[in-house]
Amino acid sequence: MTTAHQPNQSSKSTSHWLDRRLVLFTGKGGVGKSTVAAATALLAAEQGKRVLLIDVDSTGNLAALFEHPEVGFIPTEIYPGISAMQMDTEDSLREYLNLQLRLPLAGRVGPLANAFDFIASAAPGVKEILTMGKICWEVRESLEKRAPWDIVIVDAAATGHVISQLDSPRAIRELVKVGPVANQTEWVIEMLADPLITELHIVTTPEEMPVSETIDLVKSLKTRVDVPLGNIIVNRVLPEPFNRADADIFSNLETTNSLAAIEKTAGLGGKKVLAAASLAVSLRRSQSKHIAYLRQSVDLPLVYLPYLFIRDHGLRVTRVVSEALGYEMGTGG
Ligand SMILES: Nc1ncnc2c1ncn2[C@@H]1O[C@H](COP(=O)(O)OP(=O)(O)O)[C@@H](O)[C@H]1O
Ligand SMILES: [Mg+2]
Repeated sequence: MTTAHQPNQSSKSTSHWLDRRLVLFTGKGGVGKSTVAAATALLAAEQGKRVLLIDVDSTGNLAALFEHPEVGFIPTEIYPGISAMQMDTEDSLREYLNLQLRLPLAGRVGPLANAFDFIASAAPGVKEILTMGKICWEVRESLEKRAPWDIVIVDAAATGHVISQLDSPRAIRELVKVGPVANQTEWVIEMLADPLITELHIVTTPEEMPVSETIDLVKSLKTRVDVPLGNIIVNRVLPEPFNRADADIFSNLETTNSLAAIEKTAGLGGKKVLAAASLAVSLRRSQSKHIAYLRQSVDLPLVYLPYLFIRDHGLRVTRVVSEALGYEMGTGG
């Protein structure tokens, strides 16, 4: 497997990708965003880093990728070196009010939650800032040594929602120009824009829809938000079973004698064997076409992860993807 990752690019070369304090993953639903985020967490933990893994998608279950029961808003160790938490905007609001305004709030936010729901639906970006604010707050706490994390890894929103999340501090700053809330947005914007701290990777697969969504997303990210972009991780790339010369050999096999010989040795209809080979070749060619289009449409490094033929979901998949990721991106350790 080859990689287009160019380690000598700009200021990024001064530090390794796992040296960022905040690493975010987005991508179209189903492409393997959570798997890649979990695999990255494993890679970082294996280097001795203390990881906070944040699941932003409320339907997700990242802890399951470590064969651990679901976790809540409070970071909980799910694997040696990896703590995980599930984002929850109401909990985030409660924590914010507690910390910033020193309001003693026990239990549910209650009437405040109703007011919050009202504001959140009236003003765009309120729920999103509670998500981004919490993420960046954990990073800041870790930089100031009040939280143990060496790296915060985020299974962020899918392509459709990630921009409004990343853009929320700016949207809120437009809304509230002075006072403590405005001051809070400033440092979040700065942290998200800092290439030594933050990096956003996009996960995709070599198929038509994920590739076109990725191309659109890169364009929107570049024009609408100031967040350093890392790699495009192309997941589920099929191995190349046969080269062009092999394909010629296969077409030459389509004679009655050869088909009979295949049937005799394989114990399977010769036509079926050739059809399977032809399907493998055309799937792989279609993937190559999408990869080529992606490569010429975006100027980010592409990193490839193989299709895993594993009928499993837990730690084993996370481990195998983590190994492939470490090989492709480097472990820097
Ligand atoms: N490289 C891969 N090869 C095969 N299956 C994969 C690969 N990466 C992820 N998967 C599987 O694809 C499914 C979707 O992955 P998931 O990480 O949950 O996607 P997302 O978070 O983007 O919705 C899961 O069943 C996962 O095990
Ligand atoms: Mg997911």
